Amino acid sequence: MSAVSKSVLVVTRPPTLPAEVAERVNRDFVVRLAETPESLTSAGLVELSDGASGLLVTLFDRIDASFFEHVAPSVKIVATRSVGYDHIDIAAAAARNIAVANTPGVLTDAVADATILLLLGASRRAYEAQQFIRAGEWAHASPIALIGRQLTGKVLGIFGMGRIGQAVADRARALGMQIHYTNPSPLAEDRAHGAVFHRDPLELLAVSELLSLHAPATPDTHHFLNAETLALLPRGAIVVNTARGELIRDEDLLAALAAGTVGAVGLDVFEHEPAIDPRYLTLKNAFLMPHLAAETVETQTAVGMLALDNIDAVLSGHTAPSLVTA
Ligand code: GLV
Repeated sequence: MSAVSKSVLVVTRPPTLPAEVAERVNRDFVVRLAETPESLTSAGLVELSDGASGLLVTLFDRIDASFFEHVAPSVKIVATRSVGYDHIDIAAAAARNIAVANTPGVLTDAVADATILLLLGASRRAYEAQQFIRAGEWAHASPIALIGRQLTGKVLGIFGMGRIGQAVADRARALGMQIHYTNPSPLAEDRAHGAVFHRDPLELLAVSELLSLHAPATPDTHHFLNAETLALLPRGAIVVNTARGELIRDEDLLAALAAGTVGAVGLDVFEHEPAIDPRYLTLKNAFLMPHLAAETVETQTAVGMLALDNIDAVLSGHTAPSLVTA
């Protein structure tokens, strides 16, 4: 491709691009970097996108209706390096005929692995164990000081049995857990592998000794876990979230942790992240990660490559392999 024929691509958060992806971006496009996305307003992004053909963004960038209303007609695609696209106003993009594409499939394993890390971290008190051993307390402690809870035989409730929910179920089954789930429709038996379907999510809560969230953030799932629904969980249940923080009303989860109705949590995502409620930081029974479930070199490379495939497809007049439609 000659330099003159290269399209202009706006790239947000360039330091997060894996080497292979950065190489392809620099080879194929004239790149405009959004180096300081936190200070980049919607208007700033519009300005930066003037004359560009596409944007390669992350889930931490808000691409709102105002952006789509004002952006130059040269922009044909916004490709996010994430499966979730709740940070992009899809309807506003559709109104301007701008494609939006995400990256489903390629991050399933990484997120499912991280979910198991959170389930184990919360149930086996991994955060406390780290603190304890680093503080040199081992020699003086009772052998049961950090006794945890076993996953074997427990009921894992999965809220949202898409690709990631199913991959978590496979892993949890290997740990001897019993899988229950809710989903808009039941899985075919060859995919359910005996998992018990609950049409009513509230019934799922009542049996979930451990609960893991795997649904997208939509108006329907907003604050799915709140004071009323948390009260349905078995006392001392463990709640894990690698989906989106908006699925949980943090205020209510913190109250449930304080009351002991929820025994422990494993959280990778938070309402209002990265500005997380500081009370989480004081809790020993909160095993916390900064939204990094999909952050492996392998996965981020695959995610970046799929995002670029989406951009290439749209810029050459084809449908993006993982087009999101309004
Ligand atoms: C991660 O949260 C993603 O949506 O890819």
